[in-house]
Amino acid sequence: MKLLHVVGARPNFPKLAPVYRAGTLAGVEQVIVHTGQHYDEIMSDGFFASLGIPAPEHNLVVGSASHAVQTARIMERIEPVLLAEQPDWLVVYGDVNSTVAAALVAAKLGVRIAHVEAGLRSNDRGMPEEINRIVTDRLADLLLTPSLDANVTLRNEGVPDSQVVFVGNVMVDSLRFTLERERISPDANGEWPNDGSVLVTLHRPSNVDDAERLSAVITALREVAMERRVVFPAHPRTRQKLTEFGIDTGAIEMQNPLAYEAMLRLMTHAHVVITDSGGVQEETTALGIPCLTLRANTERPITVTEGTNRLVASPGDLSSLVKSSQRNAAHRIPDGWDGRAGERVIVALQETLARLP
Ligand code: UD1
Repeated sequence: MKLLHVVGARPNFPKLAPVYRAGTLAGVEQVIVHTGQHYDEIMSDGFFASLGIPAPEHNLVVGSASHAVQTARIMERIEPVLLAEQPDWLVVYGDVNSTVAAALVAAKLGVRIAHVEAGLRSNDRGMPEEINRIVTDRLADLLLTPSLDANVTLRNEGVPDSQVVFVGNVMVDSLRFTLERERISPDANGEWPNDGSVLVTLHRPSNVDDAERLSAVITALREVAMERRVVFPAHPRTRQKLTEFGIDTGAIEMQNPLAYEAMLRLMTHAHVVITDSGGVQEETTALGIPCLTLRANTERPITVTEGTNRLVASPGDLSSLVKSSQRNAAHRIPDGWDGRAGERVIVALQETLARLP
C-alpha cells in the first residue's frame, strides 16, 4: 500500500504525525506533500521537528493568498505530483484549504481519497472550514471519524455506512506522545498543577477580522488581565489585525506563536483556556482543562457534551466565566481519544483497500 499524505497548515501536522508513525511501523510506503499554505518556521517546520515527521518529499510553496487563489494554486501544483506518485490512497486531514484542494484534484484523477477527521459540522457556512469539510466529505471514499457523533452526522447526510470508519481522535495521539516525551505529567492525584493563568488563542476571521469584534474581545481580556496572568500567543493573522486596527492590548502578555510542546506546557498549567481553535477545544477536553470557546457554534460538540468546553458567544461574558471556571477531576474523555487512533487509520486504509475491486 502506498499513501500520499497532503498537509499544509499548522493544525494538519499533529494529525499527520501519528498516522505516519503507524504507517512506518506497518511497513507502508508513504509520501508527504506540504502545500506551503503555512510557511513560517514556527507555523510549519518547527512542528515537523517537534512531532518527528520527516521532511516532505514535495513542497508546493503556495504561500498566502485569497481562498480562491490559494486553493487554485494547490490544485494546479498537486496534479502532477499525484500523477507521478500514483498512490493507493490520498490521505487528507481536517478542514483547511489544502485538504479540499487536494481532494478535488484526486477525485478527478480517480485516486482514492481518505479523509481523517470526517463528519464534523458547525452548520455555519460563514466559516470557510465548513465549506471545506462538506466538500471533502462528499468526495472522500473513506471517511475516518474522530468521535461517534460524526458517524451519525454522516449517516444523516446519506453517506453509506460502508464508507465510514470510527477511528478516534488522532490529535490525542500527538498530545499523549508529546506529554510523554517532554515528561509533562499530572501530580500524584492525576491533576494538572493550576498556576492561575489564562491561555488565549484566537485567529478565526469571525473574531479577528472585524475591528469592533476584536476590540470587544481585547477589552474583555484586558479586564481578566487585571487579576491574573493572561498569555496570548498570537497567530500572524491576529497580530496583523491588532496592528491594522491600532488596538492596545494593555497587560495581556502577547507572545509569538509557540512550538507545540511549549503550548501544551502552558495549557496543562492554565486555570482556563480561551480559544476559537478546533484543536485546542479537543486538547483541553483530553486534558480536563476548562475551555471557553469564543464562538457561537462548534463542529466539535462532543467537547461540550462530554468534555470541558463551553461556547461563549459574547466577549462581555468572559470575565465572569473565567472567575467561575473550575477544574473537575472527574472529567470524561470521549471514546476513541486513547492515543491509538493513528494505528486504526492505517488498519482502516489496509482493510478497505483489500476489499475494493
Ligand atoms: C488556516 C486555516 C484554519 C486554521 C488555521 C490555523 C483555512 C481556510 N484556514 O487559517 O482553518 O485554523 O490555518 O493556523 O485553510 N501567515 C503568516 N505565516 C504563515 C501562514 C500565514 O504570516 O506561515 C499569515 C498571512 O498573512 C496569511 C494569514 O496569516 O494571509 C492567514 O493565513 P491563512 O493560511 O490564509 O489562514 P489562517 O488564518 O492561518
